[in-house]
Amino acid sequence: MKRLISSVIILGLLAVAPGCNSKTTGIPALGAAESDNPTAITMNHYAARNFTNGMVTQTELDQILAAGARAPSASNRQPWHFTVVQSQNLTNQIIPNITDGNILIIISAFDGQTSDQVILDCALATQSIYLTAQALGLGSRIYTGPINTINQRFKTDLGLPSGYSAVTLVRVGRIPPGVDAVSAASSRKPLDSLVTYK
Ligand SMILES: Cc1cc2nc3c(=O)[nH]c(=O)nc-3n(C[C@H](O)[C@H](O)[C@H](O)COP(=O)(O)O)c2cc1C
Repeated sequence: MKRLISSVIILGLLAVAPGCNSKTTGIPALGAAESDNPTAITMNHYAARNFTNGMVTQTELDQILAAGARAPSASNRQPWHFTVVQSQNLTNQIIPNITDGNILIIISAFDGQTSDQVILDCALATQSIYLTAQALGLGSRIYTGPINTINQRFKTDLGLPSGYSAVTLVRVGRIPPGVDAVSAASSRKPLDSLVTYK
């Protein structure tokens, strides 16, 4: 009987533990309640779907871009260029019906240097930009869907450096209060299906 009661208590505690909800059947996010956990930055992110109107400040933008520039790269070559798109006319053409005040940060690289390593470097800068925006309390989402259109139609309008092509972009903007990775992120595969120990 004692054992049965203990099991019920343990199951009850697990059910209310942070990150345990029906959307997180694999690796759970920690959620806002554990924002002081040292792994919060890599465990609590999610790709924002809903943004609210409002500007991203220059101070926030400076920190986000500095984080992108601090990303690691092979041989420390830092092959990226960042284009900040604030004009609503342009952001709307890249992501139709985009929320007022959202900005797009386009990560591009020199055409002659788009080896797998350079793409990986740009991906790491992208991830740093994406995570830093969220660490500042903003929403962010990585996009590759519009990249072909950007490279085919908007390079000149966007002022991409000569000979560069877009690799990824990160959308950044303000988000509604009360949304966090526990409520908003998709589920992840269970860890034991991803890891092999030898
Ligand atoms: C390389 C890459 C490309 C992506 N491209 C798009 C895109 O074109 N459009 C879009 O809506 N989301 C895009 N996403 C966002 C993913 O759909 C999102 O990160 C994923 O579903 C996990 O979301 P979650 O962290 O909120 O669970 C992209 C993400 C990555 C990493």
